[in-house]
Amino acid sequence: MRVYFDHNATTPIAPSVLETMTSVLRAEFGNPSSIHHFGQRAKGVLDDARTAVADLLKAEVSEVVFTSGGTESDNFAIRGVAEALEVTGRRHLVASAIEHEAVLTTFKALARRGWTTTLLPVDTSGIVAPEALAAAMTDETALVSVMHANNEIGTVQPVADLARIAHARGALFHTDAVQSVAKIPVDVRALGADLLSLSAHKFNGPKGAGALWIKRGTRIAAILTGGKHERNRRAGTENVAAIAGLGVAATLAGTKLTTEAARLSALRDRLENEVLARIPHTAINGARDRRVPNTTNISFEGVEAESLLIALDLEGVAVSTGSACSSGTLEPSHVLRAMGLPTHRTQNSIRLSLGAGNTDEQVDYLLETLPKVVEKLRALTGARR
Ligand SMILES: Cc1ncc(COP(=O)(O)O)c(C=O)c1O
Repeated sequence: MRVYFDHNATTPIAPSVLETMTSVLRAEFGNPSSIHHFGQRAKGVLDDARTAVADLLKAEVSEVVFTSGGTESDNFAIRGVAEALEVTGRRHLVASAIEHEAVLTTFKALARRGWTTTLLPVDTSGIVAPEALAAAMTDETALVSVMHANNEIGTVQPVADLARIAHARGALFHTDAVQSVAKIPVDVRALGADLLSLSAHKFNGPKGAGALWIKRGTRIAAILTGGKHERNRRAGTENVAAIAGLGVAATLAGTKLTTEAARLSALRDRLENEVLARIPHTAINGARDRRVPNTTNISFEGVEAESLLIALDLEGVAVSTGSACSSGTLEPSHVLRAMGLPTHRTQNSIRLSLGAGNTDEQVDYLLETLPKVVEKLRALTGARR
């Protein structure tokens, strides 16, 4: 059996997405900026996709700008606002300590160019406290960027409260919703943000396509400059087929959001409860009641995460660790560290993220396999059983 429990890394393309993309690649080769028939047909494909994304977010169609994915959308939001607001003297940026690297590394780059940056702490449940943001805000704050759902532990942040605090001090608010779109309802106006990032490959669309939602009237500079594409906000001939795929994936997500969220949370909760019951010295990381429905992050005391990942892969089960292997040394997850978890939790945790293809049988297989693998690894290292 081969089972994929790594949907927060990426998801398989839905058949209807693939079908649309191939037919667009075959038939709609026109440049959407061309005035003639071929161009207008391609532009029609973009229009349909833009409407689909806007519908999913309850946004206006003209507020959706297509990008190459989550990383570009995050860069665009942060660098674009920084550039637009530089002249106002606002040179302070705030994010949470548990953001994706697309945000954290962009902050570091701007810090090297003289911007002041603040990273907000999270509590042990992996949630940012609104009071922490209120304390960090200054009259120079240009932008606050706090993710909607965390990619490693799945916790959902109090974005509406945080956006209100940012706005009260005249700052803009961006949320990286790459891990929440298509998993929970995302209504841009209810969230109160000014900018929101999403990425198609996290919800059964293609890699290399995404969008930045920009609230009408938001001050932002283009970071990709060139032609007048995307209403002057993002230059470059659009990846028409991938954007068409994003549109179909967005529509699909909208139609099955409620049923799929209920199905996945039931699967995930059963998985978690059984792991806790069957394997001693395990713990769930992050608030269990404020998470996207598909994600769990579990610590196995005495078991090194990388070894567990590899052992599970040999049994046909794909999971991930929150840690990155850099220059031969294992770096514990910055998210788990920010939560203040002890080393035996930060280095011994794996993430399981469920998605459309997962079934009860697959969870049963995991529940048979995981206890054996953990016991074996604990025996090997002489760790507690
Ligand atoms: C929270 C979050 N933001 C941004 C990204 C980057 O998205 P992309 O892979 O489309 O560049 C990811 C992907 O892992 C993510 O999980």
